[in-house]
Amino acid sequence: TEGVTTIDPGFKNTGSCKSAITFLDGEKGILRYRGYAIEELAEKASFLEVSYLLIFGELPTTEQLDKFDQDIKNNSMVDEDIHKILDAFPKNAHPMGVLSSLTSALTAFNPKAVDITSEQDMYNAIVILMGKFPVLVSWCMRKMKGEPLDYGDVDLSYEENFAKMMFKKANKEYQINKIVIDALDKLLILHADHEQNCSTSTVRIVGSSHAGLFASISAGISALWGPLHGGANQAVIEMLEEIKADGGGFEKYLDKAKDKNDPFRLMGFGHRVYKNFDPRAKIIKVAAEDILKDLDIQDPVLDIARGLSEAALNDEYFKSRNLYPNVDFYSGIIYRALGIPVEMFTVLFAMGRLPGWIAQWKEMRENKEPIGRPRQLYVGETLRSYVDIEKR
Ligand code: SDX
Repeated sequence: TEGVTTIDPGFKNTGSCKSAITFLDGEKGILRYRGYAIEELAEKASFLEVSYLLIFGELPTTEQLDKFDQDIKNNSMVDEDIHKILDAFPKNAHPMGVLSSLTSALTAFNPKAVDITSEQDMYNAIVILMGKFPVLVSWCMRKMKGEPLDYGDVDLSYEENFAKMMFKKANKEYQINKIVIDALDKLLILHADHEQNCSTSTVRIVGSSHAGLFASISAGISALWGPLHGGANQAVIEMLEEIKADGGGFEKYLDKAKDKNDPFRLMGFGHRVYKNFDPRAKIIKVAAEDILKDLDIQDPVLDIARGLSEAALNDEYFKSRNLYPNVDFYSGIIYRALGIPVEMFTVLFAMGRLPGWIAQWKEMRENKEPIGRPRQLYVGETLRSYVDIEKR
């Protein structure tokens, strides 16, 4: 193809856009949202505050946050016909497929939110999605558990309301304890954005055709589902469970991960950008140890994770390739401690990544990015003539 000299599989060395949202330094293990260090935000901010920061570029004043919160609450009721779509899924449907479908269905119930021709249109689409998405996420879990759906409580904060929709039992006195709310809040903040990763690039390229926000996010959810990306947090726990069932010895698994003829990879290890510790993994590791202690849970899987991680970090194969634990390696241990089914782990990743996807989509549209359409190096057949079927 004229003009194309090299191809870059997986875009390992290709910059797709200019962005002012998230800064990563893979060598130094640095992650910042709009210039603020992730360590500070995870410690001091709320998930709604971080969502506002990512989407609008500045930490909100009290008035700005209250208005954002109120506009979201005013858009948090999900059309009852979406409940019927949910009911049509088999009980064992993977919740990532359910969430992607229900998110795309938002277009049908909010058609005006597709044509974005003004800042107000953009804002309206954003608060509709920020309002309804947590409800849809909680519905995915309640469907899996066969529990009645919860429609949320506008008297609660964004974070408390999400925890209530996810965990509240029927009995009146059931309280969601602060440990759970704080752990969820921290995890959602740590997953909120990560520059041009696979699912965010998907959201941007789908949006670059001027497809609506909900359809673009739905595509991002599907990209995140893959076990090499967000699906890794589910695959990590399944791997650790397999090691536990196999007697707890992990040497065999390290050997399998190093064997080029074996497709097995050490899930939760390695990263396209971080060639050092993923800063999120460091924070989540401590949070996992804290929550197990606070909830007085002995989880042998955490001991296996620690041992496996230490062994890999001292192994030449992993060291020479700069393979370190990533965000997915420890997050599943916290989700398990909160009683979340393993298939829901990537759904929680999507819940955290929502504001990042929205911010990146908004930036792409505001910057009037051209429609994404890469070229190729053609390596197929040269010109040849049609042959009648009887002569083939
Ligand atoms: C996320 O991009 C993001 O920012 C993603 C994310 C986000 O917040 O959006 O951070 C979230 O997706 C985290 C990553 C979750 N995925 C996993 O944990 C799955 C296991 N990890 C690997 O599949 C892999 O490390 C990737 C997919 C994460 C990165 O793959 P790359 O950058 O394409 O690297 P590569 O496959 O070219 O690997 C380089 C070498 C290869 O060996 P050699 O060919 O040089 O001999 O390292 C090896 C790989 O075989 N390798 C691994 C390995 N990861 C890389 N070997 C064993 N186990 C692994 N996990």
